[in-house]
Amino acid sequence: MSTPARVRIVEVGPRDGLQNEKAVVPTATKIALIDRLSATGLQTIEATSFVSPKWVPQLADAAEVYAGIAKRPGVAYPVLVPNEKGYERARAAGVAEIAVFTAASEAFNRKNVNASIDESIERFVPVLARARADGVRVRGYVSTVLGCPYQGAVPLADVVRVAQRLHALGCYEISLGDTIGVGTPAKARAMLRAVAAEVPMQALAVHFHDTYGQALANILACLEEGVAVIDSAVSGTGGCPYARGATGNVASEDVVYMLEGMGVGTGVDLAKLIETGLWLSAALGRETSSKVARARAAA
Ligand code: HMG
Ligand code: MG
Repeated sequence: MSTPARVRIVEVGPRDGLQNEKAVVPTATKIALIDRLSATGLQTIEATSFVSPKWVPQLADAAEVYAGIAKRPGVAYPVLVPNEKGYERARAAGVAEIAVFTAASEAFNRKNVNASIDESIERFVPVLARARADGVRVRGYVSTVLGCPYQGAVPLADVVRVAQRLHALGCYEISLGDTIGVGTPAKARAMLRAVAAEVPMQALAVHFHDTYGQALANILACLEEGVAVIDSAVSGTGGCPYARGATGNVASEDVVYMLEGMGVGTGVDLAKLIETGLWLSAALGRETSSKVARARAAA
């Protein structure tokens, strides 16, 4: 496979980015963030999660956030849903696209959703059936594809099996998550190749956290394998509260900058994205994790 001419960025900052914040981010800030992001040309913005507010208090205002965003035509605003209860809450809020999530590692899945991998997939069966009947698109996540904070190495066969199951259940796209950012390019490439042997590359996305500073290198390796959908978070926010040691996602600004340099189109206005990331980091009271934003701000 060769590098695609165009890539779709799935902006996960409002969800993955904000789920891990210590201080409660005001609902109005979340809404303003999503509206700023939709003005940059992004086509997919993961808005929030309809998970248990006891487990993730930071996103307890999911319905208010979803109601408050200005839905821009042509932009999808998927939300995370762990079970039927989450599906019902999401639908009551008017959500048109969801993402279900499980993992390749049993130990992590237990910590994250209090269930085995099989149990969590069983929970998705009625969710996917209802989504199909309701015309709701469903994305699927597989976490810990390159390592688990609790069990260590994760066999490739487990990643492939879980990705295949989500695809067979009807997820239109499977996002492969390096939850704790331990992957390196050759391993990322081998993982993607193994999954792509069973699930079409057009139905795959990659989701790298930058804990060990490997995310862009891993993305490049995966682009060379032909992946054309990349998850990232503006300002490099993010992390999973149930993955010990997980830090931010790769910064969207850095991904767009790299792709521009490679002549790969994204439809995203880099200057507007940088501005949004700097606005967010000011709102969160800390420096941006995007190197591109830092360099541009200094210039
Ligand atoms: P549980 O405690 O086993 O669930 O949690 P339960 O069914 O026994 O319910 C317990 C209580 O939660 C009950 O309330 C339920 O009604 C309520 P009570 O009777 O005690 O008052 N409840 C809910 N409330 C609102 N919305 C819901 C919902 N479900 C149950 N949807 C559960 C199981 C799955 C709910 C919980 O473990 C959970 O919400 N986990 C979510 C954890 C999470 O959001 N993690 C971060 C996202 S994943 C991620 O970041 C990785 C990713 O980025 C990719 C990567 O980087 O690898 C996607
Ligand atoms: Mg993540």
